[in-house]
Amino acid sequence: MLSNNVDLNAKIPNNVGLADDPKLLRALEKWLPSYLEWWHDMGPTDFEDKPVYLRTAVSVENDGWAHYEHVRMPDYRWGIFLNPREQASTIRCGDDAGKPAWSEVPGEHRNALRRIIVTQADTEPASVEQQRLLGHIAPSLYDMRNLFQVNVEEGRHLWAMVYLLHKYFGRDGRDEADALLERRSGDPDKPRILGAFNQPCDHWLSFFAFTMFTDRDGKYQLAALSQSGFDPLARSTEFMLTEEAHHLFVGETGLDRIIKRSAELQRLDPNGDVRNQGGIDFDLIQRTINYWFTYSLDLFGGEISSNAADFFATGLKGRYREDRLPEHRALDQSYRLPVVDGGRLVERDVPLRNAMNEVLRDSYITDCERALRKWNRTLEEAGSPTRLSLPSRRFHRHQGIYADHRFNPEGELVSQSAWDRDHGRWLLRPEDNDYLLSIMKPVYEPGKFANWIAPPNKGIEGQPVEFEYVKLHD
Ligand SMILES: [Fe+2]
Ligand SMILES: [Fe+2]
Repeated sequence: MLSNNVDLNAKIPNNVGLADDPKLLRALEKWLPSYLEWWHDMGPTDFEDKPVYLRTAVSVENDGWAHYEHVRMPDYRWGIFLNPREQASTIRCGDDAGKPAWSEVPGEHRNALRRIIVTQADTEPASVEQQRLLGHIAPSLYDMRNLFQVNVEEGRHLWAMVYLLHKYFGRDGRDEADALLERRSGDPDKPRILGAFNQPCDHWLSFFAFTMFTDRDGKYQLAALSQSGFDPLARSTEFMLTEEAHHLFVGETGLDRIIKRSAELQRLDPNGDVRNQGGIDFDLIQRTINYWFTYSLDLFGGEISSNAADFFATGLKGRYREDRLPEHRALDQSYRLPVVDGGRLVERDVPLRNAMNEVLRDSYITDCERALRKWNRTLEEAGSPTRLSLPSRRFHRHQGIYADHRFNPEGELVSQSAWDRDHGRWLLRPEDNDYLLSIMKPVYEPGKFANWIAPPNKGIEGQPVEFEYVKLHD
């Protein structure tokens, strides 16, 4: 039975009636120690005995689902939460739009659904691995707490997907759940599935760019899956989105605070030299945006994709906010996009269903453009002449129709030699990391912030900014 309230006393907190399904409960209780071992090996282990001011899901109600208190991360109540539905759900898109949604996995969609779930699931532990050492160079206790909040919730997202694998995919699902704890971000022999989740995230500029751009891909993937005809997946991802919003907040405001501080340092310095003042210069910020935005664009998959068409046609994956769109079949419509033909860019029309990845990427880019406008307002208000921008969606791609060509950030085709000459001006480079690590020293005093970032406007959950968000000396 689904309910709004979560059984927090259960070994695995849940609102999916685990107690009534002894076989599933046993399987998940067996997976639990492996999960904790993975967390201990690959999570922010060096801080695991420190109480952190974390929110924990206690209900799936729209308001008041979260509870805040100081807890040690290994004691966080990871659990399984599905959004309850008032009415019976329907398939939201494709050939069967409007028919009843599936509460079990239809045999013909089993492989595709398992692949979708495993791919989503794999990103969750990957990001924890990528971020595991950042606590050592946290710019404040406030930021450190946000990092750890993101980490424990990515752990919970893994639980959400593992529940689906265990409950609906039998033996294969259990094997996949085990494999999720065996792959490692950046490991050449057993890497994580998607490119961006194997990129190093060594410092906080990348952390904020990752939570801004890569977690935002997650938001759009989850939103598309929340429109799935497989009802348990739709309801899991709906609840994950409520948690994801905070991750995006951390990234967007983190970058905004860096930009604000850099503008102050630019003004302070007689030559407008931000680096001379120990800050992060705007060229470096722009290179970071270029790097993480483009790796995140890859996550949406190919521009012209028969898989995407199939997922849409069969109702496995909808568009962003499919339920609010006027029609749900996407037949007899086309999508126009530039393709490379004979060494130049020409426009081509493709059937809309085949362009569903690109349609979702459009929603994502619009959202990123909004954040850029906000950051540029921050620059304007600070009296800085600098403006930041998003590169073209064709720039620096490793997936899809643009991956075999070289483009500049404006989206124009360039030669390989021009790329070799210029890409160091456009993308993060090793010496950037050296510089960033040289200025990122930990700041662990409550209310104090590193020189390269402005404090936030307010604290977490009504607490003051100088609140002791992580108790390092308890
Ligand atoms: Fe997540
Ligand atoms: Fe996230």
